[in-house]
Amino acid sequence: MHKILMSRTGGPEVLEWIECADPVPRAGEVVIRTHASAVGWPEVLVRTGAYKWMRPLPLTPGNELTGHIEAVGPGVTTLAVGQPVYLAVREVDYACGTYSEKVVVPAVSVLPLTAGDDLDAFAGLGYFVFAWALLHEMAHGHPVERVLILGAAGGTGSALVQTARYEGKPMIIGTVSGEEKASFARALGAHHLINYRTEDVFARVLELTGGEGVDLILDPIVGARFSESFKLLRRWGSVVSYNATGGMPGADLFPAMRSRADHGVGLRCFSMHIYEGDPQGRRRIREPAVAMLRSGVKPRISRSLPMSQAAEAHRILERGQNMGRMLLKPARSG
Ligand SMILES: NC(=O)c1ccc[n+]([C@@H]2O[C@H](COP(=O)([O-])OP(=O)(O)OC[C@H]3O[C@@H](n4cnc5c(N)ncnc54)[C@H](OP(=O)(O)O)[C@@H]3O)[C@@H](O)[C@H]2O)c1
Repeated sequence: MHKILMSRTGGPEVLEWIECADPVPRAGEVVIRTHASAVGWPEVLVRTGAYKWMRPLPLTPGNELTGHIEAVGPGVTTLAVGQPVYLAVREVDYACGTYSEKVVVPAVSVLPLTAGDDLDAFAGLGYFVFAWALLHEMAHGHPVERVLILGAAGGTGSALVQTARYEGKPMIIGTVSGEEKASFARALGAHHLINYRTEDVFARVLELTGGEGVDLILDPIVGARFSESFKLLRRWGSVVSYNATGGMPGADLFPAMRSRADHGVGLRCFSMHIYEGDPQGRRRIREPAVAMLRSGVKPRISRSLPMSQAAEAHRILERGQNMGRMLLKPARSG
């Protein structure tokens, strides 16, 4: 079998396609033959060494896959050879990465799928789990009707748009860098797209909301103008930073928040790592996402690349060219 291995951090070229021995399952373990692994920005952070929860090198990146059970170890009675399954490496404490033709994991860590489940769509389940968590757990019970999604055409952004639309949010506003991405996010269900290169996002959000603002801003970028976000929140509204790829805020946030005390504005920083050591919490956020995919909502798969070309997938992400979900597939996978 083959897998991607990185022995050092750096540019896409550190993602090497290597041959290695087939895994053998021990008691309680199964071998999964990969159908598809998702690829997203978190692995770019791992590759460059910027990831806060970095695993020791050498490592195989990748956070989720779908595939079929190829072999079962002694004592495994719940899964049989040929069963389609989903794996999030969060369930195995990141003991393996999914840019791999095969993985060996404890049987209890996999989610059995049905013959009717679309294995391409389920390879992108993680961003729908993430979207559900952001839309539900971050608002802390306060109703979210109007949501502003930054980077609305990307992997997470598009899952957020689709989830918000599935839930019938009356106003979904997204930001994008150009017309192609705006069309993409509009087709997924965003009501309004703002091109941040040509329009003033702050003025436009206030215009669209009759000067009131939104309930929730979901922001992976942050950057110099972040403190102005609080002006875009209506009563009890919050902004959630789930990364800060655009850099840290240029100003002290507290005065900006205090000035909106009469709106009860909130700020949260979020990472999926909050669910480590919390299997019940992980199930709570996964079940509605699974139900959403089974009801017919599907991630928009913009590209499927051969797994050996993981470096090219990372270049596409770094050039800002990704829309929706990108997959890596072993050569023989359909
Ligand atoms: N906290 C967590 O647990 C968690 C989990 C998953 C992902 N994330 C984060 O979510 C973010 C999106 O990941 P993804 O896989 O969806 O990536 P993606 O598909 O590349 O989408 C990100 C989009 O954000 C926009 N963007 C604007 N400014 C940017 C900047 N300075 N740097 C990068 N992108 C910028 C780009 O769209 P435009 O061209 O329209 O600007 C880009 O397409 C990443 O920062 C990732 O680390 C966090």
